[in-house]
Amino acid sequence: MKLPNHVAIIMDGNGRWAKERLLPRGEGHRQGMNRMIDLADYAFTKGIDYLTVYALSTENLSRPKEEVEGLFNLFRLYFTVNVKKMIKRNMRVKVIGDVSALPEDIQKLIAQNEQASAGGTRGCLNIAINYGSRQEIVYACNRLVKEGKEITEESLSSALYTGGQPEPDLIIRTGREKRISNFLLYQAAYAELYFTDVMFPDFTNEEFEKALSDFSGRKRRFGKTDEQVGNA
Ligand code: IPE
Ligand code: IPE
Ligand code: MG
Repeated sequence: MKLPNHVAIIMDGNGRWAKERLLPRGEGHRQGMNRMIDLADYAFTKGIDYLTVYALSTENLSRPKEEVEGLFNLFRLYFTVNVKKMIKRNMRVKVIGDVSALPEDIQKLIAQNEQASAGGTRGCLNIAINYGSRQEIVYACNRLVKEGKEITEESLSSALYTGGQPEPDLIIRTGREKRISNFLLYQAAYAELYFTDVMFPDFTNEEFEKALSDFSGRKRRFGKTDEQVGNA
């Protein structure tokens, strides 16, 4: 089966998952975060090299304070315990997004985890926190201008948070909506898109396999013809 090298996931539906079970939204986020950790382990074991997960958008920061605080507490817990476990298993972790707007202790935890895992070779987990693609592009352009560099496709792409990494081959969105919600707008130019009604906490490894199997049947052309790219 043809496997994507880089998978990105819009982990949506935590709130509705909880609501359907008469649980607080925070419980949906907790279950979602557990699922994310297990899924990353599964993906890297399969040989996928990059997994990018959308955990918090720039827009999500304007949710009610209680929900945002709950998410921050989850990050505190996960960067202290769960992500550490993954790092022990030789995974690299990178946070993409504007971390400068996060509480200082979380910024510290992120930096520690990134440093501790920098040598990991088993797979790279990009966690998008306070991430917004528009913010990312504007920030990258301003950086290039400041450095006196010309803005080209190459320079811009390498100035993004994902600079140096391959573009996503497959973007999965759980939770029924069919939109991108400000995620990897530049990097997704030729990504295959997969939408599922399953809410993220229920997005099991089997559901992930369905997405991978769907991907393996896609014919990618990158603007060329089947003959040019060797599609059967
Ligand atoms: C996605 O789940 C996680 C975050 C945005 C933090 P939601 O919280 O958006 O869940 P729904 O869409 O309300 O079900
Ligand atoms: C996208 O989900 C962001 C994350 C999954 C972190 P949202 O729930 O914020 O997206 P919209 O608002 O429905 O587009
Ligand atoms: Mg949502």
